[in-house]
Amino acid sequence: MFDEPGFPRDADLENSGITLETFVYCSRASEGVDDAEVDRIIEFSQRRNAARSITGMLVFGSGVFFQWVEGPPTEVKSLITSINGDSRHHDIVELDRSVDHRERLYPAWEMERVEADDIRTVLQDALESAEDKKNIAALTRILEHLGSEPFESLGES
Ligand SMILES: Cc1cc2nc3c(=O)[nH]c(=O)nc-3n(C[C@H](O)[C@H](O)[C@H](O)COP(=O)(O)O)c2cc1C
Repeated sequence: MFDEPGFPRDADLENSGITLETFVYCSRASEGVDDAEVDRIIEFSQRRNAARSITGMLVFGSGVFFQWVEGPPTEVKSLITSINGDSRHHDIVELDRSVDHRERLYPAWEMERVEADDIRTVLQDALESAEDKKNIAALTRILEHLGSEPFESLGES
């Protein structure tokens, strides 16, 4: 599409994307938060995120959340405030937060629920198809984090 007549061409256009804020964290689900509650969070988020141009994925397993959020900085900042104040989880650990000019990693997911068993596969797939250097660096850091602390055992202590 970049070769279409009239499209602004730039020497550094490779993966130029748009300005996106990324927020990646894990947290512990509060007592009483079960699969049905997570489904409600997903249903709400898909509607709300579509309206705010936010995409990403949410993993829930062993009482632990892992979420990747990406979108316009103003919208993501506002969502982070909501997420940080949400009593359905606690012990929020920020794994990655950055503002970059890049392509979306999950352009088709308004907020996709991913099973805990699939998380490494999803991130490894994303890493294999990623061309953006910043995405590659962030994904590598997160995979290292998951590798050093097995995801399945995080909620069991
Ligand atoms: C683990 C977790 C993930 C969430 N993800 C989103 C999300 O992607 N988008 C969203 O709009 N709300 C999400 N929420 C809900 C927000 O925390 C909040 O309830 C919602 O955005 C409404 O916030 P507001 O009343 O400040 O507008 C999530 C909540 C939890 C506990």
